Amino acid sequence: MIAIGCDHGGYELKQEIIKYLEEQKLEYKDFGCYDTNSVDYPEYAKKVAHAVADGQAEKGILICGTGIGISIAANKVKGIRAALCHDCFSAQATREHNDANIVAMGARVIGPGLAVKIVDIFLNTPFSNDERHIRRIAQIEE
Ligand code: RB5
Repeated sequence: MIAIGCDHGGYELKQEIIKYLEEQKLEYKDFGCYDTNSVDYPEYAKKVAHAVADGQAEKGILICGTGIGISIAANKVKGIRAALCHDCFSAQATREHNDANIVAMGARVIGPGLAVKIVDIFLNTPFSNDERHIRRIAQIEE
């Protein structure tokens, strides 16, 4: 299952990403928010981050205006490696090198075409399992 969440700034882009998840027949859970009324992004970051950290979701997707606030908040949850990605190279590299378990994006930064491509790469790129990357990820948790 993929956990997805956003604040008001990310709501419309989240709907585009949900359309992609449905087309791909991927199971997902939408943790809100559910319209464009102003909300506080940490609430949604934490809901998605806890779903991933608890093992309820395999990966998470978070969207706010910039992607910055929501990724900072998600990274406060133990075990979460949320990567802010606005390009395809970063989406691939963060899976291969960091085993990122949440991708964050800013709806005021990129358009839906690129965002969907980033999500597609993020969901379909395996972790490299290279010893050096395993070691570095373990050091993050120390
Ligand atoms: C909301 O206006 C905006 O601050 C939020 O979506 C995000 O960009 C925060 O980092």
